[in-house]
Amino acid sequence: MTDVVVGLDLGTGGVRAIAVDLQGQIIATTTKSYPLLTPQPGWTEQNPSDWVEASLDALFDIAQQLNGHRAIALGLSGQMHGMVPLDAEGTVIRPAILWNDQRTGKAVDAIEATIPRQELIQRTGNPAITGFQLPKLVWLRAEEPQAYARLWQILLPKDYLGYVLTGELVTEPSDASGVGCLNLANRQWDTDILNALNINPALFPSVVESTAIAGRLKSEIAARVGLPAGLPVVAGGGDNAAAAIGLGISSSNLNRGSLSIGTSGVIFAPCDRPIPDPEGRVHLFCHVDGGYHLLGVTLAAGGSLRWYRDTFAPNIPYTELMDMAERSLPGARGVLFLPHLSGERSPHLDPDTRGAWVNLSLAHTQADIVRAVLEGVAFSLREALEVIKQITPVHQLLATGGGARSNIWLRILADVLQTELIAPKAEEGAAYGAAILAMVGVGAYPNLEAALKILPQDSNVVQPQANAVYEAAFKQYKLLYEALKAVR
Ligand code: XUL
Repeated sequence: MTDVVVGLDLGTGGVRAIAVDLQGQIIATTTKSYPLLTPQPGWTEQNPSDWVEASLDALFDIAQQLNGHRAIALGLSGQMHGMVPLDAEGTVIRPAILWNDQRTGKAVDAIEATIPRQELIQRTGNPAITGFQLPKLVWLRAEEPQAYARLWQILLPKDYLGYVLTGELVTEPSDASGVGCLNLANRQWDTDILNALNINPALFPSVVESTAIAGRLKSEIAARVGLPAGLPVVAGGGDNAAAAIGLGISSSNLNRGSLSIGTSGVIFAPCDRPIPDPEGRVHLFCHVDGGYHLLGVTLAAGGSLRWYRDTFAPNIPYTELMDMAERSLPGARGVLFLPHLSGERSPHLDPDTRGAWVNLSLAHTQADIVRAVLEGVAFSLREALEVIKQITPVHQLLATGGGARSNIWLRILADVLQTELIAPKAEEGAAYGAAILAMVGVGAYPNLEAALKILPQDSNVVQPQANAVYEAAFKQYKLLYEALKAVR
């Protein structure tokens, strides 16, 4: 009977749970989905009870697949920034408001009117950002005062799940630093900020280490899911930080970060000190290993290509679109694409910017247009990476997500970013990272560094090649955002 740990990632589309043995081999996996609610344009919500039901079902599935293996810990990760408001009975007061919700524009202005943007960046690593949890709380106070009056605690999504599983109110620095009021230097809530906003710090849970045991599985939950009562539940990490740990990215090797091309494109770069970009153009959060990390986000990366296909080429498989892009030339024969289809985070933090193709002529073909989409996403990521590289010396990026499975897109990304890209051997995401954190949490490994040795070694490396066409196109690309602002 061998020991396994369970890792769980409470995502936006659904929950994924895995069981991993102490050598890192996957023993069991399962996913369960739940609906996304969009009660008004720009609003995104989920019912925490849907998360709980799906998570308990997922844990039950995992327990069924253990075949004699013994679960020794559960680690949590999940979507960041969301707000779950609880009353004094621990009951959810209203649906959770999610990371990609855009309703808090006025609250963001109100926060920055009270605490100067510059001070907020220096203390918390970031300006006030619409998706973060703190503006949601300020929105709740202004727009739903009856709900606010009942408020006893607010929790992040994975921490709410932890509360249901263990009864403990706990968070950890990687997720807490996405709330908007965590002091990055001491990794605790910044009471000066909360006092200035007239918010009671007691509304927030206590912050423990990411590898700390947050609590133990309640017996009634254990009986329902078939895992041992009292199972240690490890605090874990926000999904980006946990996924980075699953790839072996830690703040003890600043050389190596990651690039994920899913719906959004995310560059994750570790750093050893809390140094924010003075303009807040990329996020700075705590890493789960005691260090920090910068995060650059292009909101529509794979999402731009999916939109292109759904709208203009519904019957063409992605592989064929990629072949087409290959038949165009670097620089897409002059066509440029601005991928701001859902507004943009890094480096513009502008929910209202919009996308465009420019320089079209009768001579251009679908191949050029598709290639321009791939290149436009790469240019957008380069804008974020340039800010990141001023702060931390990242030289290699582990490339993950659906988009990284395309050779042509990887080649474009390596050449535009002028950075070595590595396709990792295994890509198990945030649930895997949560499992590794859980291994350390229960002492199966003495520290994270030792646990990361179980990860498989790299496979395919894509070296960047200098390309003057891309350099020239990137210069033009950078002018587009400002130019198009004038025609909004
Ligand atoms: C990070 C962010 C997203 C969510 C998605 O800042 O908003 O990556 O964590 O789950």
